[in-house]
Amino acid sequence: MELKKKPVDLEIDASEDESTNPTTNRTFQDVAAAHLSRRSVLAGSVAVAATSFFSPAPGYAKGKSQGNKSIAPGRNKGPLLKFAPLTEAEVAAADGRMVTISSDYEYDVLIPWGTPIDPNSGIKEYTGDPNTRPTSAEQAEMAGIGHDGMFFYPSNLPRVLRTEMRRGRQLPPQARARVLDSRAGYLCVNHEFGGNTHVLGKGFPESLEDVRLSQHAHGVGVYAVRENNKGKWKVVSDPNARRITVNTDMKVSGPASSSPLLANPAGNPVRGTVNNCGSGETPWGTYLTCEENFNGYFGSTREDGTFGGFDSLQDEAYGRYGFSNAGFGYGWHIFDERFDLSNESYKNESNRFGWIVEINPFNGSEKPIKRTALGRIKHEAAAVKELDDGRVAVYMGDDQRADYCYKFESARPWRDEIKAGRSPLDEGKLYVAVFGEGMDPNDGKGSGDWVELTPADPRIANAGLDTMDKVLVYTRLAADAVGATAMDRPEWSTIGTNGEVYWTMTNNTAKPGGVGEVNEVNPIFNNADGCIIKTEDIGATAFTWEMIMLSRNTRASDPGTDSANDRPYALYQAPADGGANQFTDPDCAWADAYGRLFIGTDGGQPGALEDQLVVIDTTTGEYRRMLCSVQSDEITGCISTPNYGTLFTNTQHPGNGDPTRTNFPAAFD
Ligand code: FEO
Ligand code: CA
Ligand code: CA
Ligand code: CA
Repeated sequence: MELKKKPVDLEIDASEDESTNPTTNRTFQDVAAAHLSRRSVLAGSVAVAATSFFSPAPGYAKGKSQGNKSIAPGRNKGPLLKFAPLTEAEVAAADGRMVTISSDYEYDVLIPWGTPIDPNSGIKEYTGDPNTRPTSAEQAEMAGIGHDGMFFYPSNLPRVLRTEMRRGRQLPPQARARVLDSRAGYLCVNHEFGGNTHVLGKGFPESLEDVRLSQHAHGVGVYAVRENNKGKWKVVSDPNARRITVNTDMKVSGPASSSPLLANPAGNPVRGTVNNCGSGETPWGTYLTCEENFNGYFGSTREDGTFGGFDSLQDEAYGRYGFSNAGFGYGWHIFDERFDLSNESYKNESNRFGWIVEINPFNGSEKPIKRTALGRIKHEAAAVKELDDGRVAVYMGDDQRADYCYKFESARPWRDEIKAGRSPLDEGKLYVAVFGEGMDPNDGKGSGDWVELTPADPRIANAGLDTMDKVLVYTRLAADAVGATAMDRPEWSTIGTNGEVYWTMTNNTAKPGGVGEVNEVNPIFNNADGCIIKTEDIGATAFTWEMIMLSRNTRASDPGTDSANDRPYALYQAPADGGANQFTDPDCAWADAYGRLFIGTDGGQPGALEDQLVVIDTTTGEYRRMLCSVQSDEITGCISTPNYGTLFTNTQHPGNGDPTRTNFPAAFD
């Protein structure tokens, strides 16, 4: 079969991968030298379905056949990858209509768009019938659309955390697998986006009710899920289950919380979260949801199409964050003045988005909290790691062509902060990554600096960011000022077993047009396929990095584009398995506790493949295809139960809303 590229969604460019980075002074070549010397869960944006994977873990066998297929290493440690890879022939047989999976597993559909959060509420499930849409009030009580980042919170996690808190350390993964509940808990799921034709059945809203329906299809869901004795997972009634939308009351904390940059003349309270993309989880049992392409929900009602004009720094930042008079075409600003960039009463409303938001899944009445210390970018994911001294570091990508990788480090050990009733995410330092080449510019590894973003840096102060709240609200401008390294679209970040960080760079085909540069860490001139980079910190302000997977090298055939301009080390090498498990465009990433890296892809896959879930053994570099999705889809969000008996993942936009491509999770036709 021929390669099928993911069609562009004509209604809304939700990927927002055009660069808005105008700087010319951050180039890798310019900054490298200085650092070298210093060191040696259904239809087009429609539904989404979380699928569950059953593996024969001890006492929990759900595998289709008996055999050595558990993904949790047991007492006798064997290879990390034991399942039969899904073959391209098996994928082709499904014709992109239905999800396919390794013959060692089976899947089930758990939470498609329209699933009531409380099955006993009397609210009718919405199953995608275009003639009977939910009201906005009903949508606020059912699963949203565009499922993305996700995490599973075992029902007894708070009790286990209290025990671990007393011990001062986390139980090892095997012990956690035994004590944590793997059959009931909360699944926190991001609902990133859904276009108007899909959600409303028309291209543009005609009323505030239409806008509210669109708004309530976005956000986050906290779903109470439970496995029954037949191995079936279901959504169950629970007082803490809830939807969080762009109209939910929020708290704001951290250094910018009382900034005038977050206040409006209208005096309206801070509400809502939107375009929730990747995610993270904290050691203290909360969920981090990441606001990515928030700019696309704002627009202007001025007849001449202008907006802003209230503050020169904000006007500069509008360009850098990609605001426009029409946004992505949602039309919220026409009926909801909060999203009107030309309304002076709400002049700072847009500054209230672009944050990482912390949610307590175990308390349905607790307001989500926007953590300003982590900066305001197009947040993809938030990978939290406990440092040796008990503080935490949070690794975060800013997903746009030629944007950056960031890190936050807490001021104090997280256990001390939690005991004192403070958040470890409210005080600390924010850094941006500057990658260096090391001794050899062509060996695919090097060193780098984490550069602190602070108004004490004259480069930042001279850029007009002379107070910390300005640095945090306009983080991209601060990072530009210190020469951060432009990357090929940083997507997810995740923490490996030894504290190393894996970053997916999904692709960047705009370098030929001048967006980004070829250098050792972005080695492909016309990078259609992406790559995976590993970093390891040396203290707070330095790191080493290594290219662990270049997607060009995971293809069966060389795309052959512009290789004359590529770095030599990146030249095409045939994959060791002959391309049997080929994949490209890594996006979602989750590293498990044993050295496996799960990668969800988002982009045109080679051969006859649709977007995939691939598992990499980070110790050997071997990778195997576990699952392949349907046409015009994206696999994103991935987490297992503590016993590795069930794995949850999301098919974000099956068919991109086009029922002639697929009706998944329903059978075609
Ligand atoms: Fe929402 Fe960068 O993916
Ligand atoms: Ca090097
Ligand atoms: Ca993504
Ligand atoms: Ca993506």
